[in-house]
Amino acid sequence: MKQRICGARVIDPACGRDAVCDILIEDGVIAAVGEEFPAREEGEEVIDARGLVAAPGLVDMHTHMREPGFEAKETIATGTAAAARGGVTSILAMANTLPVIDSPERVAMLYERAKRDARVRLYTVGAVSKGMQGKEITDVEGLLRAGAAALSDDGVPLMNAQIMRRALQRMKPSGLPILSHSEDGDLVRTGVMNEGALSRKLGYEGRPAVAEELLLVRDGMLAADTGGYVHICHVSTKGSVAYIRQMKAAGVKITAETCPQYFTLTEEEIEKQGAMAKVNPPLRTQEDVEAILEGLKDSTLDCIVTDHAPHTAEEKSREVPKAPSGMVGLETSLALSLTVLHHRLGLPLSFVIEKMSTAPAKILQLKAGTLQPGAPADIVLFDPDEKWTVRPEHFASKGRNTPFAGWELTGRVRRTLVGGKTVYNAMDEL
Ligand code: DOR
Repeated sequence: MKQRICGARVIDPACGRDAVCDILIEDGVIAAVGEEFPAREEGEEVIDARGLVAAPGLVDMHTHMREPGFEAKETIATGTAAAARGGVTSILAMANTLPVIDSPERVAMLYERAKRDARVRLYTVGAVSKGMQGKEITDVEGLLRAGAAALSDDGVPLMNAQIMRRALQRMKPSGLPILSHSEDGDLVRTGVMNEGALSRKLGYEGRPAVAEELLLVRDGMLAADTGGYVHICHVSTKGSVAYIRQMKAAGVKITAETCPQYFTLTEEEIEKQGAMAKVNPPLRTQEDVEAILEGLKDSTLDCIVTDHAPHTAEEKSREVPKAPSGMVGLETSLALSLTVLHHRLGLPLSFVIEKMSTAPAKILQLKAGTLQPGAPADIVLFDPDEKWTVRPEHFASKGRNTPFAGWELTGRVRRTLVGGKTVYNAMDEL
C-alpha cells in the first residue's frame, strides 16, 4: 500500500529538515521525503496537506489510561482516541492501575488489551515495587522481557532508597530509565497545593517545593552512584531545574520532563478553579513558571508530556482536600505548547516538536520521533495558526477535568496517522 502526503511543511528535528515537500509511505513506513518523486502510481492514496505542518507524531511518555480498574475515569479505547485527537501517536501508560502493572503477566495482559482497543501505539510502564507499596522490588528483568518500556511507581513517591538503588542497577543493561515521581512522601502526605502564602491564606495544607527537590536530588545521586538512568517526572519548581542542570553538568545520567500546566499556570488557579487545578506535584508560582521555561529552552528539561490524569466529574466537583489530583492533557498539549512556546515566546516549531516527539522517542529507544526513511509513518498534520477554543465536552477522553476550559489556543491538529493509518481526521468532525 502506497501513500503520499503532498505539499506540507515537513519539520523533522531529528535531521534538521524544515521544508515544503512530499512524504512517501509504503506499507506503513516512511519510504522517502523530498521534492522530486516518481509520478503517482495507480491506487496510491494522496493526502493533500498544503498549508499544514507534517511532523513526527507526538510521543507522550507520561499518561494514565486507568485500565484496568478505573474504567469510569478512562479506558484504553477512550484514552488513545484522545491521544489521536491531540496528535499523539505513542503513549506510555503508567502502572498505577488496579491491579498495578507489576508482573510480566500483567504487562502481557495490558498489551493484549491494547492490541484490541488502542488507537495509537501504547507502551506500558512496569511498577518498581510490588503493588507500588514501596516494600519489595518487582521482577525487573521479567517486566522488561514482557515489554515494559520503563519502570516507575508514578503517582506514589518511592521512598525506599534501597529499592530505587537496586532497580537502577538492574535496569542499567537495558539503558532504559526509571521514571521518578519526585516528591518526598513524608513532606507531602497531607498537602493539597503548593506550600506558601497562598496555601496559608486559603487554609490548605501545602506541598513544599523542597519535597520535589529532595527526592530528585536523591534519585540523581543514586543514578550517579549506580551508573543507572533516572528520568524525573513532571518537574515543577525552580530549584528542581537548577539541581537537574547541575547534575547534567556533572555527567549524571538524568533526563527530565515537564507538562504544559507547569509553564502556563500558577497556584492561583486553585483559588479560582478549586479542585480542577489540583495536581501532583502542585501548580507553583510565577517564578517557577519562568524557571521551567528557561529549563526547556536550555534543554535542562528534555521533553514535554501531559501527565494525562482523567478523573470523573463527581470526583473533581468535591472540595479541594477531598478531590483526587490530576488533569487531562492529551487533547490540549500540542496547542498549549504552540500557543505559549511558539506564538508567544517565538521559539521555532521544530523546538516544540523536538520536545514532544523526538526527545521522548530517544529516551524510550523508539523508532518514532522522526520522519526519516525507515521510520514508522506516525505523523501529525497540524495547522500552526488555526485558533480554537477548548471545550471539554468535545473531548474524546472520558476525563473532562481540564483547567484550560474556555481558553483560546492557536494551533490545531487536522489529522493523525499511525503506521500510515489515519486514526484521527478533523474533516470527519465537520
Ligand atoms: O496529579 C497526579 N495525578 N499526579 C500523579 O502523579 C498521578 C496522577 C493520577 O494518577 O491521577
